[in-house]
Amino acid sequence: MKDNSILIYRSRTGFTKRYAEMIAKETGCDLAEFQKAKIDFLARYQTFIFGSRLHAGRIDGLSKAKKIFQKSGAKRFILFAVGAIPNTAEETIAEMWKNNLSEIEMEQIPHFYMQGGLNYERMGFMDKTMMKAAAVFMSRRSGDEVFKKMISQSYDISSEEYIKPLVRLLKER
Ligand SMILES: Cc1cc2nc3c(=O)[nH]c(=O)nc-3n(C[C@H](O)[C@H](O)[C@H](O)COP(=O)(O)O)c2cc1C
Repeated sequence: MKDNSILIYRSRTGFTKRYAEMIAKETGCDLAEFQKAKIDFLARYQTFIFGSRLHAGRIDGLSKAKKIFQKSGAKRFILFAVGAIPNTAEETIAEMWKNNLSEIEMEQIPHFYMQGGLNYERMGFMDKTMMKAAAVFMSRRSGDEVFKKMISQSYDISSEEYIKPLVRLLKER
């Protein structure tokens, strides 16, 4: 049977959705929103790619996505996370993976980080409140000024560049 893939994404303000669409366009994989992904529909796929945003250090919906993957019968799980921090923040990103994946999962699940940005116009009330609290917290700590300034407004640092490692992996097979 052909190794067919589906990309399931969860996106609140559009960055993950945009990355998901770029990956689907580049690789020809099928695409579905997380909320609409039903197990019987996923059963026909061998590779399950899950993409979601970072939210207070956690990958939104990851535990549920892992459960769906296990029930779906797919063979391969690939993960990507989208956040506001730049890809160059390697230590923070490495720490984030440690907090989201177990040691075994780190070895077994190919995982990728893609820098997105912030979109206050599309953010929900709770998220806006959390961002304000984060900015207040940072203003009390010295050294966080640059980051505080950065997160006080919308910005977009996403680029097609960041899908390349994942696309390469999907095209290998
Ligand atoms: C309340 C809140 C917490 C966030 N926490 C993080 C975080 O821990 N690390 C990070 O890099 N980005 C964080 N972000 C930024 C989002 O992950 C980023 O805006 C992402 O691009 C959103 O993806 P989406 O547009 O697909 O929803 C946070 C955003 C909000 C609103």
